[in-house]
Amino acid sequence: MGKTKKRIGILTAGGDCPGINAAIRGVAKTAILEYDMEVLGISSGFAGLINMEYSLLNEGHVSGILTLGGTILGTSREKPFSKKQVQDAVDRPKLIKKHYNELELDCLVCIGGNGTMKTAGMLSYEGLNIVGIPKTIDNDVWGTDQTFGFDSAVNIATEAIDRLHTTANSHKRIMIIEVMGHNAGWIALYSGIAGGGDLILLPEVPFKEEVIIKYLKERATIRKAYSIVVVAEGISRDKNMKAGEYISKLVSEKLAYESRVTVLGYIQRGGAPSPNDRILATRYGTHATELIHEEKYGRMVALLNNNITSIPLSETTGKTRLVPPDNPLIEKSRMLGTCFGDECPCKMTTI
Ligand code: F6P
Repeated sequence: MGKTKKRIGILTAGGDCPGINAAIRGVAKTAILEYDMEVLGISSGFAGLINMEYSLLNEGHVSGILTLGGTILGTSREKPFSKKQVQDAVDRPKLIKKHYNELELDCLVCIGGNGTMKTAGMLSYEGLNIVGIPKTIDNDVWGTDQTFGFDSAVNIATEAIDRLHTTANSHKRIMIIEVMGHNAGWIALYSGIAGGGDLILLPEVPFKEEVIIKYLKERATIRKAYSIVVVAEGISRDKNMKAGEYISKLVSEKLAYESRVTVLGYIQRGGAPSPNDRILATRYGTHATELIHEEKYGRMVALLNNNITSIPLSETTGKTRLVPPDNPLIEKSRMLGTCFGDECPCKMTTI
């Protein structure tokens, strides 16, 4: 290609979330306008680097995308280092390195969640200049206080819970809402508390079926004729059943009350980012480009105590940021009578 300017590539990998385009814009505008760099948009995550699918981005390409959901670059769950693919005829990490060199990239910006940060860390270890930007609605990337996408997902889930309250009350039902989060229950915790959920079940807090039953029974008999149950998708103890379905079955087997399940699904991941996510993604994006300008590679941008900073990619690799069972939000909510399935809240039960 031949070049006179610093040239960077940007890719987005893993599940999408609101705010990715704001981050792409943050990286690219800072690169083009502040530092006079060239920016290549790599299509469909690491697959785009394997298949050499990319295009040159100018200011116009990243203008007007701040509020747009999804990712203009497309994404994929391509994991070049995964065992299955290492056995393939094609050596994907080698191909990625070859194409990185052929494109004469000075740095590759990888926007993604835990899996993406792991791949980014491995590519960095193999000698590529990498900067990572953490995103996911699950908020489970280790090493940062928050990922963008999370705030939008919590807003959506909270609105859904608000709407369930009125119909639950009209019919005096137990309304179960399943939100995303296989390993980490951040969305269930935050939307559950913001939406006034009565019973909140997280993968990190093991529940006891007898506690759930006694709690819901006591609510129905002496406190309120309906209940809102917020469950993270990772809590089911039956691999053939989704989390909401599992709790609904438990309720219908053990209690005489009607229940209904709502699975929120991909609505949590689609659509426009919240203002907070737009701001966080913009802060991450601009800082990523600052790091590239300073040639500080092998790092992931992070939010720590509301300051934007960065940590070595090697520190985040292979770790998941789970909800600590002694999280202050859990402890305070118990004082309001919220149940987390492990024990009944103080002073409200005969258990
Ligand atoms: O983006 C994170 C996440 O939404 C998880 O909570 C969810 O389980 C997973 O992605 C599902 O995504 P996909 O169906 O795209 O693999």
